[in-house]
Amino acid sequence: MKTNSPSHDETYLRANRENWNERVVHHFGTKYYDVQGFLSGRCTLRPVELKALGDVTGKRILHLQCHFGLDTLSLRRMGGIVAGVDFSEAAIQKARELSEMTELSAEFYCTDVHSVWDVLDCGSFDLVFASYGVFCWIRDLYHWFAVASAMLQPDGRIFVIDGHPVLDMLNYDAADDRFSFNGNYFHEEAPELCTVKESYTGEGGSLVNSTTYQWYHHMGEFATAAASAGLMVHSLTEYPYCHFRKFPCMVQRSDSYWEIPNHNLPIMFSMDCRKVPNV
Ligand SMILES: C[S@@+](CC[C@H](N)C(=O)[O-])C[C@H]1O[C@@H](n2cnc3c(N)ncnc32)[C@H](O)[C@@H]1O
Repeated sequence: MKTNSPSHDETYLRANRENWNERVVHHFGTKYYDVQGFLSGRCTLRPVELKALGDVTGKRILHLQCHFGLDTLSLRRMGGIVAGVDFSEAAIQKARELSEMTELSAEFYCTDVHSVWDVLDCGSFDLVFASYGVFCWIRDLYHWFAVASAMLQPDGRIFVIDGHPVLDMLNYDAADDRFSFNGNYFHEEAPELCTVKESYTGEGGSLVNSTTYQWYHHMGEFATAAASAGLMVHSLTEYPYCHFRKFPCMVQRSDSYWEIPNHNLPIMFSMDCRKVPNV
């Protein structure tokens, strides 16, 4: 197991947090997040996790990197007892506001995900959940899974869903309508400096705090990090569609996901793990 000290360099963390604080303001009014729909009762979870999670009534759920809490509060509406964690002060403030407005009770904690065990009691959750756009911000996947696993009670469960590493490798040339691969599949210690001038919501204007630091993680790393954290991988599923329109040629399916016409590449994955009780 890795150490319990935060593994992100402060510079990376600060830049990423500033980017996310600004994105919260941009995201809040977008069609992508449809906060108004949520306030009117829309469940913001997508079909894959809804089916996988099943009945969550009475389950103690920890939502890691919860952004401004729409999914956390949707899980509350479904009967879960929920807590959300995010390092963005702006995100946590909005999440708390939404909790108050909707009278959906939830605990929200503003902390680096690597330090959750400094803030919450280990072993207090039945389910840890994280989704869509979380792992590129994590340098040390082993540390992430160690923290997530520590939060679980002995036979607890972790369900994660995110973009597939292959999605990060794809470049699209709109002029030729062709895809090519860049060379980065395997994880490297050093982050990639990514300039994010506009968020994936495609609305909300350009970002001033556009410098971010991101990491690639390959599929083998996910499985090995989970195993190292005392988890049994129950399923590891790859999908030829994903949660956002990364390329203009993508087409939306009736279940809300986006696919690349005439291609059959893995662009999203989910992983369902159970904590192996100590013997
Ligand atoms: C793409 S969003 C998660 C998406 C979420 N499922 C949603 O759509 O609402 C990624 C989140 O990770 C958070 N984040 C990034 N790095 C983090 C870190 N080191 N600790 C805690 N939160 C972090 C960001 O603030 C952001 O809210």
